[in-house]
Amino acid sequence: MPLSVLAITTSPRRHGNSESALDTVLERFSGMSVEKVVLNDLNISPCKGCGKCEKTGECIQKDDYQALAAKIRACDVLIFASPVYSMSVCAQAKALIDRCQVFWSQKYVLKNLPKVVGKKYGMFISTAGQDRMEVFEHTVPVARFLFDVSEISAGRTHLLLLNGLDAKNDFKNSPDAILKAKDAGDNFRKFLESQ
Ligand SMILES: Cc1cc2nc3c(=O)[nH]c(=O)nc-3n(C[C@H](O)[C@H](O)[C@H](O)COP(=O)(O)O)c2cc1C
Repeated sequence: MPLSVLAITTSPRRHGNSESALDTVLERFSGMSVEKVVLNDLNISPCKGCGKCEKTGECIQKDDYQALAAKIRACDVLIFASPVYSMSVCAQAKALIDRCQVFWSQKYVLKNLPKVVGKKYGMFISTAGQDRMEVFEHTVPVARFLFDVSEISAGRTHLLLLNGLDAKNDFKNSPDAILKAKDAGDNFRKFLESQ
């Protein structure tokens, strides 16, 4: 059975750098079942910190989170793309990650997070305007939280971090960035096929 891939693009700027990098990676996944979600089109409110999920394992806010959370649980491969905003992920990405506190509550407090069948794999894609790799220092650990509560270990997570991409079409105009994204997609696919 082909692996099911869930790709989430989180930038509010459609078809900008992080989404274009994601699309380039996804081109390498032909033959697999791929669903791409545009997070900015969904209604996912920020976590209210009420703590109810630690008691019930559910979020009190009923919005598009529940359906997306089910997809995150069900997929074999989660590819998550975010631009760097103010040294972290963008607000849309952070809102989703914070809402995934429900998984954290189920896993660590209630200890009833349903076991994942088989192994899960992840890739985090991020783009930044600044031309120095340190710009991802805070972004990667934030994304790691999402993979951790989604049962995707660090050893099964690949990274594609592209800096020096600021204007909307910088990725599309950068042969070097496109090559890096193609290589990252090919390497990740080979890794998945070797598992
Ligand atoms: C609100 C905002 C905050 C940003 N903060 C940073 C930053 O802290 N460091 C950085 O290198 N780039 C920053 N950028 C630039 C974006 O990371 C860069 O343009 C990125 O490639 C955008 O990806 P996108 O086209 O997928 O949205 C910021 C851009 C915006 C709009």
